[in-house]
Amino acid sequence: MATLKLINLSKRYGKSVWGAKNVNLEVNHGEFVVFLGPSGCGKTTTLRMIAGLEEVTEGMILIDDKDVTFLEPRKREVSMVFQSYAVWPHMTVYENIAFPLKLKKESKEKIDSIVNEVAEMVKIKEYLKRYPRQLSGGQRQRVALARALAVKPKIFLMDEPLSNLDAKLRVKMRTELKAIHNKTGATTIFVTHDQSEALSMADRIVVMRNGHIEQVGNPDDVYFDSENIFVAGFIGTPPTNFFKMEIKIENGKTIFFNENLKFTLSEKIKDLLKNYNKSKIILGIRPESFKIEENKNKAHFTEKILVVEPQGSHQIIALEIGDQIIKIIAPAFPKYKANEIINISFDEDRIMLFDIETEKRIRR
Ligand SMILES: Nc1ncnc2c1ncn2[C@@H]1O[C@H](COP(=O)(O)OP(=O)(O)OP(=O)(O)O)[C@@H](O)[C@H]1O
Ligand SMILES: [Mg+2]
Repeated sequence: MATLKLINLSKRYGKSVWGAKNVNLEVNHGEFVVFLGPSGCGKTTTLRMIAGLEEVTEGMILIDDKDVTFLEPRKREVSMVFQSYAVWPHMTVYENIAFPLKLKKESKEKIDSIVNEVAEMVKIKEYLKRYPRQLSGGQRQRVALARALAVKPKIFLMDEPLSNLDAKLRVKMRTELKAIHNKTGATTIFVTHDQSEALSMADRIVVMRNGHIEQVGNPDDVYFDSENIFVAGFIGTPPTNFFKMEIKIENGKTIFFNENLKFTLSEKIKDLLKNYNKSKIILGIRPESFKIEENKNKAHFTEKILVVEPQGSHQIIALEIGDQIIKIIAPAFPKYKANEIINISFDEDRIMLFDIETEKRIRR
């Protein structure tokens, strides 16, 4: 177990490409932290700097409060698992796992006991004598995991380790990895661009874009309390629906309107908008915060259904408002049909309001 601190960590490639810029982060003992963000946002770059595989341009990396910024990789006591399984083809599974322990000059007995222990943990005990080519992708990735676990690293680094697996196996391995983490308690940084993977595995999620951190928080924080439009739009499927609205006060009531919609909001909104003096705003509503009402008087607006996407456990209802497609999650029953007119309300405690220019969340 170990702590990790990144202080103003930056990486520049060539003269002007910043792979990561001013990354500040503190990871606690035993924490499972996920770096999440779209392709090219700097996840791998940051992870490789922690591993010592990438030279740091600016800033500092501390492991257990010790400066390791310029320490060579093998002295950092970190283990990394890559997307491509990177197991040695000419060695058996046993030899693959044992190899780093041999380098550490561990005794034969100790190596044997550790190999068996980690093989048991990742469920590959029956394959110890096979070669990687005799294994499936999922099994090969388990070998890579076992090899990384075997050295009992201070910090476990994983770069999209599940993304080469098929969808079903990926979901299964998520649960197993989480269980292994609960057992070993190793401080872990896990990289993914899959928001659902991040939500389901992380103690804390670090949402990244263009080399910098947009928000750090537990899965509920980043989902229900998104810091800006990017985070609200990136996390959740279907994503948050955004409405560009104008604000006006009529008879003391706050009204949001645009060319297609108009609704009066509760008194709470007034308080929230106390220090906001622009006339336009971005309203964010998650698909499950909508409700289809029988009674028109309870609705914020009425709209015709464009498409219904049944999902078994629930239905996704798509509406076309202006030139925008809005998605609503409705229970499995009653069933709705395209072209049906429905009354729609939303939970005003769950809406998110964003500044039209900065795209940052408006807070009290
Ligand atoms: N060796 C390199 N030389 C130049 N630019 C690089 C190099 N490696 C990465 N970059 C750039 O740095 C930025 C961050 O890349 P990085 O690989 O960290 O992204 P990522 O978040 O891991 O993306 P992905 O999800 O696609 O793996 C990108 O703009 C990328 O083009
Ligand atoms: Mg990457």
